[in-house]
Amino acid sequence: MQFIDKKIEDYSISKSNRPSHECDLIEVYTKENVFGAQMLIGKMEASLLGFLLRSIKAKRVLELGTFTGYSALAMAENLPSSGEVITIDINQKTVDIAKSFWTKSQHGHKIKSLIGSGLEVIKDLVGPFDFVFIDADKRNYIDYLKLTIPLLSAQGMIVIDNVLWDAKVLPDYQLDKSEHRDRNTEFIRLVNDYVSEAPDLYGTLLPIRDGMFLIQKI
Ligand SMILES: C[S@@+](CC[C@H](N)C(=O)[O-])C[C@H]1O[C@@H](n2cnc3c(N)ncnc32)[C@H](O)[C@@H]1O
Repeated sequence: MQFIDKKIEDYSISKSNRPSHECDLIEVYTKENVFGAQMLIGKMEASLLGFLLRSIKAKRVLELGTFTGYSALAMAENLPSSGEVITIDINQKTVDIAKSFWTKSQHGHKIKSLIGSGLEVIKDLVGPFDFVFIDADKRNYIDYLKLTIPLLSAQGMIVIDNVLWDAKVLPDYQLDKSEHRDRNTEFIRLVNDYVSEAPDLYGTLLPIRDGMFLIQKI
């Protein structure tokens, strides 16, 4: 669901710094060839991620959910040349597509892909990370958050994607538990409640695209 009027969003994108032509190529290829292309974060969200990375002068980024590599490249473009994006995905096939585009970008060398289940791979990672972008399986969102908070640098930030989940997180929405997407609704409500109630976290939930939770340690 798009919460912001499309004309307003298009105008905002047109006046914003945007991901590169190489990211556009990933977007076009994914929409034409890959199932689940609606999962791409798109230009508006990518522009905001770039702004956040620049504002905290991020050098090391951890991403959960590579898919075809759009968000990883968009983030890499906003890091210094010594910067690093470690991105995790369970699907080798879509990561192969991602790599075929990263190699054509001058920022591709900053991206390191790790294949495997997010929960397993995170356990072997050593922080600190300046920025964590959580955009993988919703079932594990709460654990991804809990596992990555201790890996954050002092000025670090976590962004969780899809936290409005087509507005199904709203209290008056009646869950249909036989629906896969509604089981995910419960997982997302859980993480949203956790952040809003955590005394050691500062969170801002933005209604951009499908909802982005911006989180820092207090
Ligand atoms: C929403 S997509 C990521 C989109 C990407 N961030 C972008 O905007 O370009 C979610 C990804 O999470 C991956 N995924 C699903 N379950 C996973 C798991 N248990 N561990 C790691 N990745 C997983 C999927 O294979 C999929 O590529």
